[in-house]
Amino acid sequence: MSRNVLITGGAGFIGSHVVRLLVNKYPDHRIINLDALTYAGNLENLADIEQAPNYVFSKTNILDTEALKQVFDTYQVSDVIHLAAESHVDRSIVSPLDFVYTNIIGTVNLLNTARDHWKADYSKHLFYHISTDEVYGSLGDSGFFTETTPYAPNSPYSASKASSDHFVRAYRETYHMQTIVSNCSNNYGPNHFPEKLIPLFINNIIHEKPLPVYGDGQYTRDWLYVKDHALAIDLIFHQGKPGETYNIGGFNEWKNIDLVKLLCRLMDEKLGRSAGYSEKLITYVKDRPGHDRRYAIDASKINQELGWKPTVTFEQGLSETIDWFLANTTWLEHVTSGAYQHYYQSMYTNR
Ligand code: NAD
Ligand code: TYD
Repeated sequence: MSRNVLITGGAGFIGSHVVRLLVNKYPDHRIINLDALTYAGNLENLADIEQAPNYVFSKTNILDTEALKQVFDTYQVSDVIHLAAESHVDRSIVSPLDFVYTNIIGTVNLLNTARDHWKADYSKHLFYHISTDEVYGSLGDSGFFTETTPYAPNSPYSASKASSDHFVRAYRETYHMQTIVSNCSNNYGPNHFPEKLIPLFINNIIHEKPLPVYGDGQYTRDWLYVKDHALAIDLIFHQGKPGETYNIGGFNEWKNIDLVKLLCRLMDEKLGRSAGYSEKLITYVKDRPGHDRRYAIDASKINQELGWKPTVTFEQGLSETIDWFLANTTWLEHVTSGAYQHYYQSMYTNR
């Protein structure tokens, strides 16, 4: 094997798309998927590639120092693509410490393990950290986040991701490890856990349940199809410049309420419901505390330096996403049984 690439969080939403892409595209890379399988991790996401000769899975928590060391020793890990994280803003408001443990301490634990394992020659190894545009805080009506926008995180989630980004930087400056960070906008697509806006609303539309829009619905996000994010990660991992940060975005801003109406229209068409049927499910609910008004990424650096741009339009991506959810109702039933019901009740019934 030319590289032994450890992908953390590979059983999650974005991680599973990255694992699949790299396993299929690089038979000479061994892909080691390390994941604790929290509520958000699901090996069903990778059923199609689990027998591939260049793929292995390790059920490991990034907080477990000894287990991490063992994985690095066993597989002679040469590079890391780090996606494992607690990733949902609403959960971070309820349980901030979970985010401190996994996103900050877990990342430092992983950095330490990589540093110790690679110390003979850091130039042969890359630690690639996957982060979010939410570290930059909130925009007004105009402007974009660039790679030099100062960090101003507003939620416990984004604060924990910002902190992990700073630690990656510190390990580069202090120990001279080769690192790259990318900060991406909101992803959507197949295998998305139905607690984030798009998959939650797809699930609720299927079941004709209320669509809880926070506040005035005028909040804006920049949406990117998850497979385009995976392609960007592949490109950055193989061709990105160590020491650099890359912003990744869809050039695709939507106000939540407009997006929800589009989703309702597409789903009514696909489900054979009359026009306007699902829009009646829209219900305005109490706002999220500290809710960031607008995110928008300026992705010109990755476009100009590495030639990346999104390959699908939003309507195409959304349509493929809905088709995937409608064709994978068993997956949806599995992830929304048990603990999910409890989560849903506590999050939405008192709003
Ligand atoms: P996700 O919640 O779907 O998946 C996270 C994965 O990490 C899960 O498989 C989970 O089991 C695993 N995990 C959690 N805690 C762990 C621990 N302590 N040890 C080992 N594994 C653990 O998240 P996602 O949406 O796929 O996001 C992946 C990464 O991309 C995160 O770092 C997130 O901050 C970042 N990101 C996400 C988005 C987005 O829109 N979803 C946008 C930009 C950046
Ligand atoms: P989300 O998918 O949680 O992503 P993030 O907060 O990381 O951007 O939310 C996207 C937007 O949708 C955000 O402005 C909050 C809003 N939202 C709702 O209006 N209702 C909901 O039930 C959820 C989950 C999100």
